[in-house]
Amino acid sequence: MTQDELKKAVAKKAIDYVIEGEIVGVGTGSTANFFIDYLAEIKGRIEGTVASSEASKERLQSHSIPVYDLNVVDRVPVYVDGADEADPNLCLIKGGGGALTREKIIADVAEKFICIADASKNVKVLGQFPLPVEVVPMARSHVARELVKLGGDPVYRDGFVTDNGNIILDVHNMQIAKPVELEEKINNIVGVVTNGLFARRSADVLLLGGENGVETITL
Ligand code: A5P
Repeated sequence: MTQDELKKAVAKKAIDYVIEGEIVGVGTGSTANFFIDYLAEIKGRIEGTVASSEASKERLQSHSIPVYDLNVVDRVPVYVDGADEADPNLCLIKGGGGALTREKIIADVAEKFICIADASKNVKVLGQFPLPVEVVPMARSHVARELVKLGGDPVYRDGFVTDNGNIILDVHNMQIAKPVELEEKINNIVGVVTNGLFARRSADVLLLGGENGVETITL
């Protein structure tokens, strides 16, 4: 199976977690895009969605799926999103597409976070994938220096501006043995908006697509 076929398989499986008549939180990225396309097939059975990026919002609206502002929604029973890496505790690195802040907000509000990923995202220890950090532009150099003190090699994502008007530093060469601690340390650097470690709020379910089908992993 190709990587896209694996992504489609997990996206399709995630439809089983959608709750009739409720709001669905929708992530960002190529795997989430497949989920959006499957969601379109059952759009009449949901209240609507909240989107974690302008790109996902546009794709949802192109299918005539209602997209609500998170502020007008009482609850988000389920959030479905991809990941760049997932460890055995269902801690994640996200933000390869730069949507980490809105993703983290919806994940935090959501009662259940379903992560959908192909097997290449499955790792023992997080950190092979550069950790994205969203930063207020004027704090770029300050935050970069602080990230070096934490042992990383931050690289400015040239020419990229987030949906929130900020910049991204991708932190290379971090062996992330203690994701919860590191997430908190990075968040405490002044100028950081958020970082792509989803450890304090990890996934509840990981749907992992491999050659033998979709594996459902929970803790
Ligand atoms: C978007 O900012 C990311 O968090 C994505 O969820 C992550 O990069 C996974 O993307 P793909 O599904 O395209 O691999």
